[in-house]
Amino acid sequence: MTSLIVKNGRVLDPASGLDEVATILIGDGVIKRISGSRESLREQIIDATGLLVCPGFIDLHTHLREPGREDKETIATGTRAAAAGGFTSVCAIPNTNPVIDSQTGLRFIISRAETDACVNVVPLASVTRGQCGEEIVEFGDLVYYGAKGFTDDGHPVMNTEIMRRALEYSAMFDVPILDHCEDLLLSDGGIMREGFVSTKLGLKGIPPLAESMQVARDADLAEYTGGHVHIMHISTAQSIEHIRRAKARGVRITCEATPHHLTLTDEALYNFSTAAKVNPPLGTANDRDALVSALADGTINCIATDHAPHTDIEKDQPICDAPFGMIGLETAFPLLYTRLVLTGHISLQSLVDKLTRGPAGVIHLEPRGTLTEGAPADIVLINLDKEFTVGAEPFFSKSANSPLIGEKLCGRIETTIVGGKVVMHNRVFA
Ligand code: DOR
Repeated sequence: MTSLIVKNGRVLDPASGLDEVATILIGDGVIKRISGSRESLREQIIDATGLLVCPGFIDLHTHLREPGREDKETIATGTRAAAAGGFTSVCAIPNTNPVIDSQTGLRFIISRAETDACVNVVPLASVTRGQCGEEIVEFGDLVYYGAKGFTDDGHPVMNTEIMRRALEYSAMFDVPILDHCEDLLLSDGGIMREGFVSTKLGLKGIPPLAESMQVARDADLAEYTGGHVHIMHISTAQSIEHIRRAKARGVRITCEATPHHLTLTDEALYNFSTAAKVNPPLGTANDRDALVSALADGTINCIATDHAPHTDIEKDQPICDAPFGMIGLETAFPLLYTRLVLTGHISLQSLVDKLTRGPAGVIHLEPRGTLTEGAPADIVLINLDKEFTVGAEPFFSKSANSPLIGEKLCGRIETTIVGGKVVMHNRVFA
């Protein structure tokens, strides 16, 4: 039985090539039919006239902070922030307290998501126990209990032998290693990107090599082992070159870029703004432009937010003491639509592709990420013409550490549907 109809919207699904005004019939949580005209008055109808209708976005990189730092975010608040940003699936980064490195941890995430989450939560596990970088986790066990990928994000895997073994397990179980690339000997307590701005501000810099040398190392390890390495939050032009070359050799390497690395530069730190302090640090205009070109030419597989909530108390410290990270779920689409699509740098199709089919392919979430018949009814409705000021209405996230507060952006998420249920409509939750 059909239970929901979304009619008259511009249905844009890069995965199936659809881009036309159409009506979507939803029942039992899946898409039953997409047609040009059909509708039934007996069912709940959402009139999407003038709106863009896309597959719900998928974020491979969300810090939900639960368990352990519920003062920053919880599975309940983080998934509401996701829905408010049009994301219908988020991957939970395991750098919680305790770290998700055991079946008990995974079972906690899965059961808490069942009761508290309003979007799909995809559990990830760490690569090393406690993310201490010394002892590899029980890969097979964790895959069995639901881990869809492995990452020590927040920290790199410095030990090359452990990374080699992790990639061997990746090949064995066909799960990606999500790789935070940072040579700690080179980053060495730096605050921001090393260069002109860091010198002017007198802040210790992180050289771009700290990232790109590990990208090169892990591309070689993926090639040697046959494992799948997914490079997280790439931020330097040199990293892109390494990835481009490895892809050309047929290495199983994918990568993501964040909305902030695609739109901001190290100049955002000129006023010592702790909100712009992220790891990896914001790069130069040259890096940002290289990232945008790599997004347009397909070298970058997907956009991922690295939504990293922190409390005001922590972020109000002097810049050297404040933690790295900014929130991103609620601003990702409008920021990229305003700064990259409306300015002609990338197409709307490409932006939607990198938020839907791209991430689904990296972590094997298909048939999510498309609006084909039989796929889960995860859908987002967007008013592309609506302008709003970031922060004028409170964030749904528990934290507000965004350098975008006060910015005027275009493209407002109107409605988010998860598994055929409307979870958010006009900023009101079901
Ligand atoms: O900026 C960041 N914040 N980068 C990371 O890798 C970790 C994250 C966090 O957990 O706050």
